[in-house]
Amino acid sequence: MKNIFSGIQPSGTLTIGNYLGAMKHFPELQEENNTYFCIVDEHAITVPQDRLELRKNIRSLAALYIASGIDPNKSTLFIQSEVPAHTQLGWMLQCVAYIGELERMTQFKDKSSKAGREGVSAGLLTYPPLMASDILLYNTDIVPVGEDQKQHLELTRNLAQRFNNKYNDIFTVPEISISQVGARIMSLQEPTKKMSKSDENQKGFISMLDDEKQMEKKIKSAVTDSEGIVKFDAENKPGISNLLTIYSSFANESIESLEAKYEGKGYGEFKQDVANVVIEAMRPIQERYYELIDSEELDDILDHGAEKANADAMKTIRKVKKAMGLGRVKKKK
Ligand code: TYM
Repeated sequence: MKNIFSGIQPSGTLTIGNYLGAMKHFPELQEENNTYFCIVDEHAITVPQDRLELRKNIRSLAALYIASGIDPNKSTLFIQSEVPAHTQLGWMLQCVAYIGELERMTQFKDKSSKAGREGVSAGLLTYPPLMASDILLYNTDIVPVGEDQKQHLELTRNLAQRFNNKYNDIFTVPEISISQVGARIMSLQEPTKKMSKSDENQKGFISMLDDEKQMEKKIKSAVTDSEGIVKFDAENKPGISNLLTIYSSFANESIESLEAKYEGKGYGEFKQDVANVVIEAMRPIQERYYELIDSEELDDILDHGAEKANADAMKTIRKVKKAMGLGRVKKKK
């Protein structure tokens, strides 16, 4: 039995990229492992958020986890800010991390180059030690994520090893697990850029809660090429390749078999079928989502998850404090 941890930011409604790269793979993991799934709301505030939107997105993400198959009897589902140990260990790990290595993180470089160093929060720089803390608190063996999280995971491993060498062998050094297909779903409008829930262009992503008409429309207007051949070639045909990946991941059908199926057929028919596959996959998830979103059941699940996560996380905090010499040993009366 392994410990597994993954987190998703409630920074907008999840896209089918989040689903295929991460969430889709979670339910199968909970059968044989000790699984933790987190709504990382403290990560979301590293960039400006509207408070009411954020609250709405947190609840929505919780409902989507369950609607996608997370069973609260098998997994611990919780909200990061309801477990204070995350920011506590996050601080301790900031004191182990170097500014240089944080400045080299691609995500920080991208966002700070756009907005300028005076225009981004210090939290954006110290985001990776907080992410490391999420993972290391639960003695995590495996972290299932999409490809864009690879660099953060490498830093997590470095911080864990550095801490273990400097203080005491406390942390399990986690392995990253990236799925073979669907680890990098691209924007429908700019298929050389990853699909993102915070994209300003709504046509670039499909949200898990888009209605059927929206999904169909977005897929039909996805940017492709003028060749008219359904073939995977990420470099020269990024749009069609992305649609093939989406189809293949949802239908669990290989790209080769899809290429054969659409030989001699046009993009119109292919796009319609991609849309149908996405719509069929999202239908049961959306149905369950709408049953859950305003239910007390959802609150009970999150209360229970926070209680369990708090208890588990505090065990690690006690060990780390002792290793670093924080706090005190009480004199016996
Ligand atoms: P976030 O919220 O951006 O994304 C959540 C998950 O979705 C994956 N993902 C994608 N996969 C395929 N194609 C895409 N276009 C795509 N976009 C996103 C991400 O790789 C991720 O698995 N830093 C993390 C959240 C986090 C976390 C953690 C993850 C915080 N603490 C601890 C794992 C463990 C993030 O921003 O993910």
